[in-house]
This record gives sequence, structure tokens and C-alpha cells, in this order.
Amino acid sequence: MNVNGKPFRSIWLDRDGWSVAIIDQTRLPHEFLTRRLETPDDAAEAIRTMRVRGAPLIGATAAYGIALAMRQRGDDQALAEACRTLAATRPTAVNLNWALSLMREALAPIAPAQRMEAAYRLAADICDGDVATNRSIGEHGLGLIGELWDRRPDGVDVLHILTHCNAGWLATVDWGTALAPVFLAHDAGIPVHVWVDETRPRNQGAALTAWELSSHGVPHDVIVDNAGGHLMQTGRVQLCITGTDRTARNGDVCNKIGTYLKALAAHDNGVPFYVALPGPTIDWDMQDGIAGIPIEERDPAEVIEVQGQLGEGRTGTVRITPPGVTARNFAFDVTPARLVTGLITERGICPASEAGLLSLYPERAGD
Ligand code: MRU
Repeated sequence: MNVNGKPFRSIWLDRDGWSVAIIDQTRLPHEFLTRRLETPDDAAEAIRTMRVRGAPLIGATAAYGIALAMRQRGDDQALAEACRTLAATRPTAVNLNWALSLMREALAPIAPAQRMEAAYRLAADICDGDVATNRSIGEHGLGLIGELWDRRPDGVDVLHILTHCNAGWLATVDWGTALAPVFLAHDAGIPVHVWVDETRPRNQGAALTAWELSSHGVPHDVIVDNAGGHLMQTGRVQLCITGTDRTARNGDVCNKIGTYLKALAAHDNGVPFYVALPGPTIDWDMQDGIAGIPIEERDPAEVIEVQGQLGEGRTGTVRITPPGVTARNFAFDVTPARLVTGLITERGICPASEAGLLSLYPERAGD
């Protein structure tokens, strides 16, 4: 997508041909800064501290982390160590394990001297594949938005879409998952407006989704996380679309904390609730999302403190609680499949169920 008229992906190979460039998302929306990753530890740090975040981008960064490791040393021990370090960065997004398994399985049978070249090639393929996949999710989602627009009730002259967290191009290599249909609908001339949940505590909605939508000219308003129920109850949301960090085989959807409450409100008010995801976000080994998906618990400081712009262009952190207060910071929750109207994938839209998923990915039936 474009930043000030220049096309960007969220991760790319630097001009030097070996280091990896990322957009430092911890600095947005106040500063647009890129950063070079030179070692697997740099890649792990970028994922852990959320300079890069969002399930597909975490996977892509891990893949390049392996390439950087293979540039240092291509032996089995280096491969195993890099996989271990990168796998330990964040627990919830299954794209991380997916990318690491893909890299390990492709590189292990190759002679150590040839692993570096193969690793860079595979990491680039993962990135290009992600872009194509998300574009396809966008097209299927555009069909859905077009249908809702054609069937709109009298008096609705803008289609209001609510989203949670950031599942736009910054969360992927390009296009995004939940926001890809929104960008395409806007480009196709369908009048869409997005309600952007701020997404406490890290404010991915207020900081990143609002920045992406502004850059693309899509009308939107940031709302506090608790406003969605009220807006749905008063007929001001026609569609919810979110992303997901891991979707279980039974269609349970894990996403940023607060997604479940939006799905409950949508269910209570008859608002369609869709989740957009690429194939690598499906955990085929996870039979029951609520029982099994590991929920990341992050530093309580993220709840106690808020980061923002202080004035005169300076950014800073302020405490919002009494001194000494304790907090807990659960980063994700699981929305049961029964609350999800449908899953928008690169292969089409299906019910949130094992049968629904297998109708699009029949090759996983025997797994
Ligand atoms: O903690 P984050 O910012 O990595 O969480 C990201 C999300 O929850 C996204 O909605 C999810 O990864 C889908 S991204 C296409």
C-alpha cells in the first residue's frame, strides 16, 4: 500500500541484498521509521517487542529471521537454535510455527552451504504468497460487501463496518486480511465507513488501523472499545470484520482481546460477524479453540501506562492508574464458532466449522 504516494510492504529485503527492512510499528502513527534487521536475534526482538505484529507478518519476519541465521552459519545446530529463539517470541499466532516448520522442513535436507540461498528464496516466497493470498481474501470480501450494499435497507446510504485491532496491511506483508475487502470496496466506489475499535491496551486500532485508513482515504471514526454494542443496538453497524491469530479446526477464532465481546453483541443484534484469514492461520491440529489455544499474557505495564504524543512532536508514556496498582494483560480471546457468521479466506467464504473449512481445504480431511 502507499505511504505518502510511495508503495511499501511491511517487510522487504534491503537494497544491500541481505539485511531485512521493516516498518517500526511501535513508532506509528507519530513517526514513520524503518529499521534494519541483521541477525536472527534482531528478528526475534522485533517480534517480541511488536515492532512487527499481526499473525501473517510475524510468520514472514520469522522466515527472514531463519534466512539471517543461515547467513551467519548454515549448520544443523544454527538452524535448530534460530527456530527455538524465534518460536519463543510470541505464543498465540500460529503463523509463526507455520513459517518456522516450513523453513525447517525445506532447509534440513539441504547441504549447509546451500541453506542460506534457499532460506532467502523461501522467505521471499512466503512474503509474495501472503500478498497474493490477502488480495484474494479482499476480492472474496468485496463480493460480500457488494451484496450487503445491494441489499441495504431503505435509508442506509453508507455501509458501516466495525473492526477490532489492526488486521490491515501492517499486520500482513501487504493488503491485510479484514481490511483488504474494505480497501477494495472503497476503491470500487461503495460508500463504506469504518468504526475503528481503539483496541486497548496497545491501541492497534487507534494508532495503526486509523493511520492505514487515513492514508487510503477511507472514512472512519475511532471509538472506545466498549462503544460497539451501543452502535450495533442502534442500527449503526451493518457488518463486523476482524482478523484472527489462530483459527481452530472447529472454527473457533482467536483474535485480539475484546473480539469475543464484539461477536456477542453482533449476535444479539443480528449483525453479521465475519473473520478474514489466510490458510496458514488455520491450526488443523487444534480441535477446540477455547480449550486449546494458548493466550499470550503480556507485561502489565501496557495496561498501567499509555503511550502517545505529548506535544511539540514529542512522544512519551504516562501512567493512568494509582501508583503501585497491579494489573493483568490478557492479549487475546477466543470467539466460539457459533458466533461467527462466516470465514473469509483466499479460497472463498465458508461457515465457521470443521465441515466449512474442509469444503475449502479438502486436502486437510485426513490430517
Ligand atoms: O498483538 P497483535 O497486534 O499482534 O495482534 C494482532 C491481531 O490480533 C490481528 O487481528 C490478527 O493478527 C490478524 S492480522 C491479519
